[in-house]
Amino acid sequence: MPASQAAVRLTRLIDDDYLRKALEHDVRAGLTASPKWLPPKWFYDEAGSELFSQITRLPEYYPTRRELAILRERAGAIAARSGADTLVELGSGTSEKTVLLLDALAERGLRAYTPVDVDAVTLEAAAHRLAARYPGLAVHAVCADFERHLALLPRTGRRMVAFLGGTIGNLTPGAREVFLKELRGTLSPGDTFLLGADLVKDKGRLVAAYDDAAGVTAAFNRNVLHVIDRELDADFEPGAFEHVALYDEQHDWIEMRLRATRAMAVHVRALNLRVSFAAGEEMRTEISAKFRLDGLRAELTAAGFTPDQTYTDPEGDFALLLSRA
Ligand code: AVJ
Repeated sequence: MPASQAAVRLTRLIDDDYLRKALEHDVRAGLTASPKWLPPKWFYDEAGSELFSQITRLPEYYPTRRELAILRERAGAIAARSGADTLVELGSGTSEKTVLLLDALAERGLRAYTPVDVDAVTLEAAAHRLAARYPGLAVHAVCADFERHLALLPRTGRRMVAFLGGTIGNLTPGAREVFLKELRGTLSPGDTFLLGADLVKDKGRLVAAYDDAAGVTAAFNRNVLHVIDRELDADFEPGAFEHVALYDEQHDWIEMRLRATRAMAVHVRALNLRVSFAAGEEMRTEISAKFRLDGLRAELTAAGFTPDQTYTDPEGDFALLLSRA
């Protein structure tokens, strides 16, 4: 066994059966609602994850680059300020940005890294890659849903929980409040929370970031229909749906939708469910909330956190907020 494998542990709080049940539940709930909707977490099968990775390299999609720039500049300060010996990362994915934090923490007595993700394959690959890169680091990967399993995550060490990429923006305000309170409830004095959030900015730039000229985001959006066709034996024609991205100024969020280009009937065989779409009918597939710093700090405070430091890029496009438990 390679030395790196000895340092990796994997805990599965969810398995394929759980994921399948969750998909069935979400698709039935979303397609029978009015207006119809689908939750964004089902974008990310292998093809969807690859499309998202392409999105992060698009000229219009600034958040990933901005967050990386902040981390390059500030990872040392964040590590010092947190005093953490354990990094827990929610929605870790490929853990690409994490090395910047791990490098900084490693200089200050880092002992353990706990990546948390719903996708066991991506999770295991990242865990082994990082265990090899940091000899002596205890990597304890947990396959879990951060909206359901926060209470079950490991509680050892002086922890910094990182939730990067602006993924918090996918939660509705109500779900966000629940999430922040639950997370706060799992932390102890001395623990910290590092949150990546996309900020309110010029509407044109926001919409362009979710409606790129090359059509990659459109393909990513339609991918959820491919996922449902494959997993639930449905007969959606993804090509018959148009990508829609709009900025809702009332709520400060980007909304992605799929618009039926003609009247259609769709059969989801595994659910024994038939749904019809009117010509032009729109189905919501994602919200991506954009934040104002004072508002976000107020939400953190309401959840029981003490906001400590706010780090932004020079343009003020994106922010990392470090809070204390
Ligand atoms: C991965 C949730 C942060 O909301 O910007 C990118 C997903 N959707 N383009 C985001 C996404 C369309 C992304 N997050």
